[in-house]
Amino acid sequence: MPVQAERSGAGSDKWVASITYRSEAVRPPSVSELQQLVAASRARNRSVGITGMLLHDGGRFLQTLEGPPEAVDQIWSSIQQDRRHGAIEVLSQHIIPARLFSEWDLRLYDRSGGQAKAAPSRPGNAIALTDHVPAMARFALAGDDSRLNALIADLVADGWVGDALVQHLLEPTARLLGDTWLADDCTELDLTIALSMLQLAGHTVHSQPSPDSIRKSRYSVLLATAPGEPHILGSTLLGDMFINAGWDVDMVSPESDEALTRQLRSQRPDAVDIALSDALPRQHALALLRETVEKARHALPNEVIVVSVGGRLFAEAAATALSVGADHARRTAAGTTIRLARLVEQRASGTRDPDA
Ligand SMILES: Cc1cc2nc3c(=O)[nH]c(=O)nc-3n(C[C@H](O)[C@H](O)[C@H](O)COP(=O)(O)O)c2cc1C
Repeated sequence: MPVQAERSGAGSDKWVASITYRSEAVRPPSVSELQQLVAASRARNRSVGITGMLLHDGGRFLQTLEGPPEAVDQIWSSIQQDRRHGAIEVLSQHIIPARLFSEWDLRLYDRSGGQAKAAPSRPGNAIALTDHVPAMARFALAGDDSRLNALIADLVADGWVGDALVQHLLEPTARLLGDTWLADDCTELDLTIALSMLQLAGHTVHSQPSPDSIRKSRYSVLLATAPGEPHILGSTLLGDMFINAGWDVDMVSPESDEALTRQLRSQRPDAVDIALSDALPRQHALALLRETVEKARHALPNEVIVVSVGGRLFAEAAATALSVGADHARRTAAGTTIRLARLVEQRASGTRDPDA
């Protein structure tokens, strides 16, 4: 159930803690048991200011909780003692720049019913970093964060920088993971867990703000997943990059176009990025995305807002900004802060970018 949670953007002095874990049900819950669990959890989460999501797939859980650190600790200690599940493994635990599930006291994605799969397509990419993509995908699928981080640490020691690691390692790994699911070699929950491992790796890659990006003017951006899109890797990779570049960042995983419109009206950002999955080609989502972009544009009738889109479809040039009515489509998260800053500046001065 969506809620209007308190805003906790980068400008806020409140810390937002986030924990992501996976676990296995002692016995796969029936639909009504799952509904009861979620209803009770929502009520409690709401009462202590927690937002988040719970993904369920055939008796396996992936949950992200975010909110005030003491409230996250409180709920987390209850969850750890809950005898309905076991094999609990924490995938990530850290302080985040803004809530991603700001509208959700607990958003449920129940995958037990299975999902239709679209045909895979594979990009060609020849640079050395991509040689490590299969190993990254293996480590991410195994939930092996120590080998994953060791590989990244080695590459950083070899001189690779954040943007290259995102563009030529993390994003291609997300696509390979998507192909693995499309080939039926892992479940969707495995895919989502592996993507959250990449998200964690992305935080390591971007943990050092670069001094020359800090001086940039304080533009603001809303990073949104497309309504209904459960994969949040793209938005979180961008979150770190925009924070490092000195922007005010808010994130949201809206339930609907209307929820996104509400968020835009309350935050009035200079730019919004709407992200589809980095792992799966969401061809069927294009028409809906076009409507989402259209509505985002009209959310603030007296203001010009730069609208950017992203996801595997755009990374592989299977869709363009024009095809969904956006100002910008990112083929990678790398460099997006610079391109959007340029577009925001041009909008402010009333000029048009010939390459946009
Ligand atoms: C997979 C799973 C996820 C859960 N998520 C939440 C949650 O987000 N919020 C919550 O209050 N309880 C959640 N619960 C239920 C708690 O474990 C616990 O039963 C409930 O909070 C009552 O806590 P108490 O027994 O300490 O009073 C979850 C349980 C399971 C099995």
